[in-house]
Amino acid sequence: MHILKPKVTIVGCGAVGVRFAYALVVSGLVRQLVIIDKDKKRLEGEVMDLSHCQAFTSPLDLIAGDYPDTVGSDIVVITAGVKQKPNQTRLELAQTNVEIFKEIIPNLIKYTPTSIFLVVTNPLDVLSYVAYKLSGKPAKEIIGSGTVLDSARFRFLLANHCKIDARNVHAYILGEHGDSEVPIWSKAMIGGIAIREHCPVCKNKNTCRYTELEKIFIEVRDSAYKIIERKNETSYGIGLALLRIVTAIIKDENAVLPVSVLVDGYLEIKDVYMSLPAIVNKYGVKDVLYPKLDKEEEEKLKKSALVIKEVIDRLKI
Ligand code: LAC
Repeated sequence: MHILKPKVTIVGCGAVGVRFAYALVVSGLVRQLVIIDKDKKRLEGEVMDLSHCQAFTSPLDLIAGDYPDTVGSDIVVITAGVKQKPNQTRLELAQTNVEIFKEIIPNLIKYTPTSIFLVVTNPLDVLSYVAYKLSGKPAKEIIGSGTVLDSARFRFLLANHCKIDARNVHAYILGEHGDSEVPIWSKAMIGGIAIREHCPVCKNKNTCRYTELEKIFIEVRDSAYKIIERKNETSYGIGLALLRIVTAIIKDENAVLPVSVLVDGYLEIKDVYMSLPAIVNKYGVKDVLYPKLDKEEEEKLKKSALVIKEVIDRLKI
């Protein structure tokens, strides 16, 4: 890790890459930022535009580059690939984006083999696994952005519903970043109190029924569909979710984040990437936490793993 001059590369300057780049520039977290993209003209435009932020932020070497410029990156954030169209599932993008990864990953391994790779391209659990296989790197250095965003959506909607600051709501969505994802109600907490204990004594109980909680989860799960239907892409939420993960790595935080990790044995789930609470620091994933869940949650998590695994098994890697 370059303690004094942290270096991040972003592969892909579409809506997600650029929102993240903007958040990173504003944060002042890194000293070197390389962005690469096949569309050189657009890349140049984005980097020119971003570079004009510098009088308001911290010093930064910002480069519209190519693979040789990625040398020595601490983290490479991969956002390149085709994105979901309205009503399309993330899983439907798998093979097309695998083909793109077959070009990206060997190039990264050639120029910056020791970086932590953060996979964002959808379906990100599948593509994290593909990046793991294509790179030959240790699993702890290949992380998917996972359900960090879904869990943030969950916390925000619960907080709004319960009329409580989202920072005091701790709740996780685990499993696939996609339609089979699982809300972990048994561990959802408000100010240290399990939400299931809080609900019956909540002062807002006249306006809330338990059925509202299920609606909140559905809203979380379907958020991306609703946003894509209205503006063709999601970008701000994921942009800040990426900043959160990259901060945990660069600042060596040991933060617990629901990122996509290699799961091999938990609940008999084998050889698949999906989100579990993981301890993230400068080495990538330091450890994975394996929560003891309700029976129903366990079953749903196993099903979610199966959904991802079936797509992986059909791929031509
Ligand atoms: C979303 C995209 C990043 O959920 O998958 O917004």
